[in-house]
Amino acid sequence: MAVETVRVKNIGLRGVTVADTRISFIDGEKGVLIYRGYRIEELAEKSSFLETAWLLLNDRLPDRQQLESFSRQIERSVELPDYIYECLTKLPKDSAPMDVLQAAVPLLAMSDPELADESRDANLRKSIRLIAWVPVVVTSWHRIRNGLGPVPSDDSLSYAGNFLWQLQGKRPDPEIARDLDICLILHADHTFNASTFACREVVSTRAHIYAGAAAGVGALSGSLHGGANARVMKMLARLEPEKDIAGWVKREIDEGRRIMGMGHAVYKTMDPRAAILREMSRRLGAKLGDKKWYDLSIQVERAALEEFEKRGKSSIKPNCDFYSASVYHMMGIPDDLMTPLFACSRIAGWCAHMIEEKFAEAQEKPALYRPESEYVGHYCGNMGCSYQPLEARKNV
Ligand SMILES: CC(C)(COP(=O)(O)OP(=O)(O)OC[C@H]1O[C@@H](n2cnc3c(N)ncnc32)[C@H](O)[C@@H]1OP(=O)(O)O)[C@@H](O)C(=O)NCCC(=O)NCCS
Repeated sequence: MAVETVRVKNIGLRGVTVADTRISFIDGEKGVLIYRGYRIEELAEKSSFLETAWLLLNDRLPDRQQLESFSRQIERSVELPDYIYECLTKLPKDSAPMDVLQAAVPLLAMSDPELADESRDANLRKSIRLIAWVPVVVTSWHRIRNGLGPVPSDDSLSYAGNFLWQLQGKRPDPEIARDLDICLILHADHTFNASTFACREVVSTRAHIYAGAAAGVGALSGSLHGGANARVMKMLARLEPEKDIAGWVKREIDEGRRIMGMGHAVYKTMDPRAAILREMSRRLGAKLGDKKWYDLSIQVERAALEEFEKRGKSSIKPNCDFYSASVYHMMGIPDDLMTPLFACSRIAGWCAHMIEEKFAEAQEKPALYRPESEYVGHYCGNMGCSYQPLEARKNV
């Protein structure tokens, strides 16, 4: 079948449907997010991160035995191979955690005994190892850079509880561990966002899923994507002593800067995850007896929405990063680990999408992504420009 050329360019693929998927669905007008048929609100209330990860990978909810087996497989895989831990100890201590994670993913590939096995089952097992390893890289790196030894994982804790335990070295408050588990559910997938698309694009070349996951980490690190949560926290810290929040917001927008954690490429109304996180931020502030960050977030949200309204941009609303910042901060997560924590959750969605892409589970057959571009550079005809020897060239 001849492929018709469609000219849609320089808009970051907004509104362009590039593939079918069975994994997640967003209704940006109504603020709906669905994973494999289930609404995010219901999963946040009733599910656990590992159950949600299984759902994303397997297209249905697990039964008890499947979930227990999945949890055991994750627990068995959490130990980092020695040489990777060794490598981490050699890195400059001021390395950004997202750079460390992006570097660690291909190192993990090298220790995967099934790397060359491209069967679906092997890719599922590789996904389990990635879901187990990513948080351990993040917590190990944080402890190494602070001169602290590793904390062995504790099988009695949830995935989120174990993250807090291995990061902080103290027993997590069960309510806080549950809240973090909910955060991980909320961030686990989000259709064809930039990092997921990067993962899918890489594996469409038949590269292994570690290559795709490394690309996903790189894409997630940017401030317009997963990097926004840490930037929101920076903004809140800066605004703590500020008396005129509305004036600050107006100046930022007037000067062409973006209010981090606001706006979304797909949602034109409130991001449903932000609504859950806003309530979590309020609840956590009340529990910990410090509502400062929640109150400040509310003030910034109000001021920004008013300002956007005045400028005819009323569809810009808080996204998931806006309230996850204060939530993570109150949980004791350092600012520069907020985006790596996002990766600890999104790794589940990335793996589900990479498997779907590799095995064409939502389309007729696998297809290599290969868009067109329009050349707008120098052109001297099909024979090319006349090449001048180096001595004859003088650039001004
Ligand atoms: C996420 C984001 C890239 C989506 O943007 P988008 O809907 O595709 O739209 P664009 O980037 O084309 O922006 C459209 C307009 O809205 C403005 N805008 C969008 N988000 C804005 C924000 N957070 N603050 C101020 N202005 C914003 C843009 O400046 C642009 O204005 P212009 O038309 O006058 O040039 C954008 O909202 C953003 O940069 N948000 C801040 C970063 C963030 O929170 N990222 C996490 C996303 S989950």
